[in-house]
Amino acid sequence: MKKTSVYLALACIGLALAAYLGYSNLFPQAEPPYDDDQEGLSGQIVFKFSHVVAENTPKGQAAAKFAELVAEKSNGKIQIVVFPNGSLYSDIEEINALKDGQVQFIAPSTSKLGELSPRWGILDLPFAFDSHEAMQRGIHGDIGRKLLDSLQENELVGLAHWSNGFKQITSNTGPITEPADLKGQKLRIMPNEIIREQFDMLGVESHEESFNSTYNLIEAGIVDGEENTISNIYSKKFYNVQKHLTISSHGYLGYAVMMDQAVWNQQSDGTKQILLEAMEETTAWNDKNAIKLNEEQLALIKQQSPIQIHELTEAQKQRWKEKLVPLYEQFSKEIGADMLEELKILQKSHKTNP
Ligand code: LMR
Repeated sequence: MKKTSVYLALACIGLALAAYLGYSNLFPQAEPPYDDDQEGLSGQIVFKFSHVVAENTPKGQAAAKFAELVAEKSNGKIQIVVFPNGSLYSDIEEINALKDGQVQFIAPSTSKLGELSPRWGILDLPFAFDSHEAMQRGIHGDIGRKLLDSLQENELVGLAHWSNGFKQITSNTGPITEPADLKGQKLRIMPNEIIREQFDMLGVESHEESFNSTYNLIEAGIVDGEENTISNIYSKKFYNVQKHLTISSHGYLGYAVMMDQAVWNQQSDGTKQILLEAMEETTAWNDKNAIKLNEEQLALIKQQSPIQIHELTEAQKQRWKEKLVPLYEQFSKEIGADMLEELKILQKSHKTNP
């Protein structure tokens, strides 16, 4: 071949190569070359976590923290997608949704677990815990452990107790400071035998309704008020439709985080370990965060609303306790003598004895 023809051929090949490279950079191939990252993504696990409260509450923030820790510990391989505000299922539907595999995590209020076992009622007894310290010893100690273990009878795995805090009472008919002030009040309550009985003793007309219907019930005047923690009162803006808030701290509100047993069994040992580690860290974090959030949000309610706040004095609290103490005896059989005994020991060691 002549020298000129060789140069011409080389120039053509060069031009063709340059054109190809330029084109392929502008329009990258639809299928990127295989790499390790893709292998990671193909094995991704996604769990749905459904709950009924707002994101700026102890449960909302704990669910978000748990999702963050799980993603971190699994290098993004396990994703927890959180659905707050009852956007997927109401509190009345969520256990069935878990059993049907529609969601993989729920954290219902322990007060809503009476249908599974009456032993959960121990946490609903009036003034069961007089301080956050006593409450945390109760839910993270023997009492709490036995309750979580009891979920196995329903083929559920109890992973942790996440506390919210203590319940207070809001109403448009007030002030409420003495037990007698509750007579004739119409209050929305959670579906729970002990809570219903407690309010029956005080002459309250109880309405067992879902959490997400509470604001509308108050606004429509169907109920005078409700009982809840400050974080639920704040995040759902109940204070905008209520005239009185009584700081009674008369009952505990917290959650049992759970999965379906069959779904749990399907997970690899590695996944189970990541979920358990993240749950343990979240629970310890929530113990502090829940107290902080309820305190901060009480201050915000004071700033943002003209609601009248009535804090029970020690003497008033004592009268509430005396009025409600028969409930301990009334429910002792259902709750179990062993559990009640443990609670009494705990109360004595914290110098509280209703
Ligand atoms: C309620 O129904 O008032 C609470 O249980 C809601 C919640 O999950 O905190």
